[in-house]
Amino acid sequence: MRIISVAGARPNFMKIAPIVAALGKVPDVEHCLVHTGQHYDQRMSDVFFRDLSIPAPDVDLEVGSASHAVQTARIMVEFEKVCEAKRPDLIVVVGDVNSTMACTLVAAKLLIRVAHVEAGLRSFDRTMPEEINRLVTDSLADLLFTASRDADENLKREGVDPGKIHFVGNVMIDTLLKHHERAAVLDVAGDLGLAGKDYAVMTLHRPSNVDDPSVLKGILQVVHQISRSAPVVFPIHPRTSARINEFNLDSLVQDGVRVAEPMGYLEFLNLMSKAKLVMTDSGGLQEETTILGVPCLTIRKNTERPVTISEGTNKLVGTDPELLLESAVQILDGNWKESRIPEYWDGRAAERIVKVLTGGN
Ligand code: UD1
Repeated sequence: MRIISVAGARPNFMKIAPIVAALGKVPDVEHCLVHTGQHYDQRMSDVFFRDLSIPAPDVDLEVGSASHAVQTARIMVEFEKVCEAKRPDLIVVVGDVNSTMACTLVAAKLLIRVAHVEAGLRSFDRTMPEEINRLVTDSLADLLFTASRDADENLKREGVDPGKIHFVGNVMIDTLLKHHERAAVLDVAGDLGLAGKDYAVMTLHRPSNVDDPSVLKGILQVVHQISRSAPVVFPIHPRTSARINEFNLDSLVQDGVRVAEPMGYLEFLNLMSKAKLVMTDSGGLQEETTILGVPCLTIRKNTERPVTISEGTNKLVGTDPELLLESAVQILDGNWKESRIPEYWDGRAAERIVKVLTGGN
């Protein structure tokens, strides 16, 4: 059986890692890892291959950054050549980035089967580019691997044949549980001069939060205020860094707000697991904080990961500065909800996926 797995952007790497490892243990599988090059900086890509021991990609499409249409089209043109040369029986795509959707479209038209890992997530917000990617990918995929029961329900509501849906758990959590101990020996807070101090961590990169000057300013103002109670470590995405410069907001990322370069997987896991509070607009962090038991405030109006709210440590605060401030104060005062670990977030999702892929259902 010939399988191509695809990874393109930062949040794909921790999802593909356990699948590549599990496929490597199966005899009779000829596996090829394709990196689309959607993310290409050392700190957005290479460091994850190193930290997670992912083998170097067999093929790098080197598409780089561009508008959505241009980036998607470039991936399609290059990935079609790979599919024609390698003639896989199946491709595996993960998550909801442009690379996920672009490669799915190519494979579906070449009549190559598509397995989508992290299927069925819905924010019900089509202004989010990822929502479009999820809808297109799931409507074309032949095998839909879900991380939570709500995702199964979303797919069934959209008319997906239940026989194609497999609830397997969360591959991102496979990676977290595997590397947690290695990360625990680091002391990233200490290296930042925060030894023994309560601190918060923030990440921000969604276009809806960072591309509008008034929204970005509103968020940064309240975070600057929060940083008077607890320093806020802010590893910054290249998009966000560019916007802060462009909108002249540098004065809001000083003092208690400690801007850092994007971090590697182990460094960031260490930093996050010892934080009092995480503020984010990332999807993955909502899940990781749930497992780590760290309170999470999500700076978005919706989430495609409702289980992190109903069972985990997450709360949606939108972009309302008052609610963000009030919730952060509550957390820093030590008052937060009880949480539990969602079903099948147990470190064995990739194993279940590979069993289905190789016919061992
Ligand atoms: C992409 C994903 C998003 C994911 C995020 C994680 C889509 C639609 N979006 O958004 O779902 O949460 O990755 O980071 O696929 N850049 C660099 N170096 C890099 C990569 C990007 O400097 O290695 C800069 C470029 O200026 C680029 C910008 O970041 O234009 C945005 O990158 P892009 O991949 O288009 O989207 P993200 O915002 O990273």
